[in-house]
This record gives sequence, C-alpha cells and structure tokens, in this order.
Amino acid sequence: MLISLKEALDYAERNDCGIAAINTPTYEMLLATVRVAERRNVPIIIQHAEVHEPINTIEDIGPVMVELAKRSTAPIVVHVDHGESFDYVRRGFDVGFNSAMIDASRMPYEDNLAVTQQVVALANEYGYGVEAELGVMPGREDGSQSTSSDPEMLYTDPEMAEAFVRDSGVTALACSFGTVHGLYKAEPHLNFELISELRERTGVPIVMHGGSGLSEAEYLECIKRGVRKINYYTYADKAALEAVQQLLEQTPDTYTFSPLTVAATRAVEANIEQLVDVLYR
Ligand code: 13P
Ligand code: ZN
Ligand code: NA
Repeated sequence: MLISLKEALDYAERNDCGIAAINTPTYEMLLATVRVAERRNVPIIIQHAEVHEPINTIEDIGPVMVELAKRSTAPIVVHVDHGESFDYVRRGFDVGFNSAMIDASRMPYEDNLAVTQQVVALANEYGYGVEAELGVMPGREDGSQSTSSDPEMLYTDPEMAEAFVRDSGVTALACSFGTVHGLYKAEPHLNFELISELRERTGVPIVMHGGSGLSEAEYLECIKRGVRKINYYTYADKAALEAVQQLLEQTPDTYTFSPLTVAATRAVEANIEQLVDVLYR
C-alpha cells in the first residue's frame, strides 16, 4: 500500500530505526526491493533520481513503481530523489509519486531556500512530504568515486540548517556529514556529533545520502543520532553486476539475456535484505 513520507518517518521514530530508501531505476532493483519489504513486512521508500533519467525516464518506470507500491502488502513511499528543479518534482507527482526531494544544494542559500519553498507549496496541495538538502556531498549516484576528504565536501552548518528547516517547512533534511555518493575508495569518516546537533536544532528527521557501502556499526550509530532515511543504491547495483559476471563465467554457453536479469534480481534481494536486517532491527 502507498504511505506518506511522514508516516514512514514516524514509524522510524517510534521504532528507533532507519527507513531504507532504495533507488529503483531498473525493474530488477524495483522488484527486489518490493519483495524484501514484503518478506520483512517493513515500510520502505522506492525512489527515482533525476540523474537516472538515461536509464529509465520517470514517465516510463514511475507508473510501474506506483502500481507495485499500491498493490503491495508492504507500506511503500514513492519518492522523487534529487529532483533538480520544480518541474522535475511536478513530473513525479503527475505520474503518482507521493513524496519528493528537491536538491538545490549547489545553489546559493537564498536560491536553495526559494526553490524549496516553491516545492513545499506544491506538495502541500497534495499533502505530500518534501525532503531538501543543505551542504554539499561530493560524487553522484552514477558510480563516480569519492572520499570524505574530497575538497568539494561541505558539511552542513547546524545554525543554517535550523533556519532553513524553519523557513522552508520541509519534512526531512538531507545533510552532509561525511558520506559520499558512489563507491567509497577510502574509509568514510562520519561526523556523528554533527548528526546529533543537526537533529537537535532542526527538529526534523535527518536523511543520509551516499548510504550504501557503510558498516553495520556506522548505520546503527547514525540511526541512534537521528538519521531516519538511508538512501541506498550503488552497492546493490554493484551486487547485481557481480552476479551477472559470475553467471557468465560459470555458464559461458549462456545464449539469452533474461537469465541474467533473474540473477541480478536475486543478488539485489540478498543485498537489500542484509541492509534491512540492520536498519530495522
Ligand atoms: P549511494 O551511491 O551511496 O548508494 O547513495 C545513494 C543516494 O544517496 C541516492 O540519493
Ligand atoms: Zn543521494
Ligand atoms: Na556510498
């Protein structure tokens, strides 16, 4: 069934856990994620990022996401991830998404606030939740590699975050505290104290981006400090690739494509099941 971002985050608050927010630009990722949510009977977020438009457009994969969520026995939010403009968020709502992230974090503060306010006003007409971002995280979900010491990294300022949340009315805030998108090519250095401070000052759930590739201990500490939504993609997609490579090595006489998608789906399921067993325990 479809649930709101607010309902999912409230569940996380009540149960002291983090909600897995999985990017599902391919049908394999999508099916695997929904299956895991149903098997574990936990609320989950499926999301489509604007940067993944070349894989599948939101108009193509979006209606499939919405339909699977609606008919699922698991509670599911269908969320626009890293919407880079008001128009992209509206495209998501037009195909039935019921939650969105507007990411104007690379714009000057005032511009970020203005576009976020616009998106919040639109979402309010539907009763949908909005996530926005403050601070700059290096790397993108396209697999480009980054580290916590990337000169691009700009940690979120707690005082600014407090004002931003107050003036925008967002449901949750994506913050930069040491995670990066894509693969970790060096050990991440997370600033846990900063998460506590951000949570304390903003009063809203904190969203972790670049959430794949961390250790169990890191997830649990982040949740303890106030992270309630964990964005996760790269390492699940990597698991899919590895399963396909392995299958091709083991059965070099493979002569059709579809067995590869089955192997990929199974690998993503196993990967996300592992994550869910940490985040919701
Ligand atoms: P990863 O690249 O670490 O999986 O992060 C995904 C993400 O933040 C999507 O918004
Ligand atoms: Zn992200
Ligand atoms: Na990551």
